[in-house]
Amino acid sequence: MTQQNTVVAQMRQLIQILAKHNHAYYVMDQPTIEDSEYDQLFHQLKALEAQYPEFVQPDTPTKTVGGKPLSKFANVTHAVPMLSLGNVFNEEDLYAFARRAEERLPNQKIEYDVELKFDGLAISLWYEHGVLVRGVTRGDGETGEDITQNVKTIRNLPKVLSSEKTAVPELLEVRGEVLMPKAGFEKLNAENEAKGEKTFANPRNAAAGSLRQLDPAIAASRPLAFYAYGIAQCEPPHGQNTMSASLEWLTQFGFAVGERHFICDNIQDVQAAYEQINTERPNLSVEIDGMVIKVNDLKQQQTLGFLSREPRWATAYKFPAVAALTTVENIDWQVGRTGTLTPVARLNPVAVGGVTVSNVTLHNIGEIHRLDVRIGDTVSVYRSGDVIPKVEKVWPEFRPEGAAEVHLPECCPVCSSPVVMPEGEALARCSGGLYCAAQRIEAIRHFVSRKAMDIEGLGDRWAESLLHLDLLKDVADIYSLHEHRDQLLTIEKMGEKSVQNLIDSIENSKKTTLAAFIYALGIRGVGETTARMLANTFQTFDAIRNADLDALKKTPDVGDITAEWIVDFFQAPHNLEVVDRLLAAGIHWDAPVAPTRQPLNGESWVVTGTLSTMGRDEATQQLQALGARVSGSVSSKTKCVVAGEKAGSKLDKAEKLGIPVMNEQQFLEFLQQY
Ligand code: IVH
Repeated sequence: MTQQNTVVAQMRQLIQILAKHNHAYYVMDQPTIEDSEYDQLFHQLKALEAQYPEFVQPDTPTKTVGGKPLSKFANVTHAVPMLSLGNVFNEEDLYAFARRAEERLPNQKIEYDVELKFDGLAISLWYEHGVLVRGVTRGDGETGEDITQNVKTIRNLPKVLSSEKTAVPELLEVRGEVLMPKAGFEKLNAENEAKGEKTFANPRNAAAGSLRQLDPAIAASRPLAFYAYGIAQCEPPHGQNTMSASLEWLTQFGFAVGERHFICDNIQDVQAAYEQINTERPNLSVEIDGMVIKVNDLKQQQTLGFLSREPRWATAYKFPAVAALTTVENIDWQVGRTGTLTPVARLNPVAVGGVTVSNVTLHNIGEIHRLDVRIGDTVSVYRSGDVIPKVEKVWPEFRPEGAAEVHLPECCPVCSSPVVMPEGEALARCSGGLYCAAQRIEAIRHFVSRKAMDIEGLGDRWAESLLHLDLLKDVADIYSLHEHRDQLLTIEKMGEKSVQNLIDSIENSKKTTLAAFIYALGIRGVGETTARMLANTFQTFDAIRNADLDALKKTPDVGDITAEWIVDFFQAPHNLEVVDRLLAAGIHWDAPVAPTRQPLNGESWVVTGTLSTMGRDEATQQLQALGARVSGSVSSKTKCVVAGEKAGSKLDKAEKLGIPVMNEQQFLEFLQQY
């Protein structure tokens, strides 16, 4: 075996193992290995790729994000139109569908292929010589949008076709649906809620929103999955005779198909399969809104053909929507961990499709206005795909007299701080920050994190217990914990030694930097870099605290909105009180060294490979101290690439784009000048 063969074989093996685990994790939500093991395999592949960039495989999971953000999607005309399906809603309609098929296929036995009807977005995928070259949305059926970059980030979708048994077709157009599996959807919403970002009403919206992102990096961060349900073109022909066999044929190339699938000899069995799936629906990993019934034999399909825009050989058998009427008893505002206020309708409990629903999120004040829902209203509650109940409709005709319009509360229901809702934003927030009990745990976790005050152990292990003991009302209380040794010892697994370690760690954290302290306060929009820029620009804490909007806006890395958030933060008396107590507890720092010169002001640099005299973090800091922005990827805007040993694709790219490159020796000499 040549070296190339061995390396490629190793890469292919790692890609296959990673793809299998990705499927288990993202699609089935049943991880088969530990995250750390996955990371190890992933890094093994990355290392191999860095060493042999010339052999990097096109479908490597290390480069799911292929392209740059687009300004808009291009339109593509479908070679074979993407048509729609007729619907049936009950047994009688189903039998009528079967009768119409039978009449056109006299004396023929008809077998039915029964599939899940995925509730996502239809797309078409083109493979040329086994390589995924294009992904297009359904659009109006004739013309869709080119979403290739986003489609390439879908983890369970083969980007290169290979099969041990079958030759790869020269051209293959696969049709199917992009979805967000339920587990991924719930995780995404929980994460967004924790970050104070907008949540999605259902997996379909989340999938649609993700696919319509112009920046493929966003689509890549979303847990999307693709399920194949048909072949629009195949050259040379695949040679299968039935729908079910052609789907099976697709699976050998790694395409996922629905987790349930039936082949029925008669239409009664189709009805039974439909009923079975209707009860199993809550246990499926994806959202479905019915079943698709297809005549299984492909020749029979051809004979049946189409009636206007719908096939005669297939129909959708939809599940009945589950909805119920009830009344709104109250509307509460819940405060999330980052201070977002979410309205929740408290309902007179009602059974919807077998589940009792008593609380429904109304998402935000905009949704309340859109529905014009008021306390006392009669509403239709709808459970989309069995997961999230929602208020679908308000019945104003049943509105009790005098029911008042709902307004955003002026004060936080938890801490009474003013509620703010910046113009153009959908979400309202409590301005209480560090003071608000609802936001405390996150504020504490952030405050003690490594890049902030760096108090080891407190964030992950003890924060919740300390909150329960009521020892931490805000972050300033951390510095009085030493007065409560006895209570600390009552916490499970907290012995003398852990208490002492914690207290020592708290004491040591008092000596910090101005930038870390500013970052630790958890001001919205103020990440590590912004905090450093603020410290460098203003030099003292008082100067930052008293800075006006204009001065803040002029600071590098501080946008207009962040500037407003900084001002808001230092205007809230509760925050000032906490800050003063923190400073009184003895938090201190050396005055930041004013960067006398910022010779690399705003330039974009990239550090890649291994440097022998310093870590990449240190190299990054040195560059940042000179005013550079250090980026993770090379583009035409990159000013210079510092390439250590074993620099891989970034170095290649820099050379291709003609961007200056420094080796370690040159970099050290360059730094010496300053
Ligand atoms: S077959 C000629 N199979 O339903 C159309 N469609 O109402 C053949 N859909 O836009 C479509 N699951 O996106 C087919 N297993 C499945 C499906 C399915 C969901 C969607 C499809 C289409 C819509 C038609």
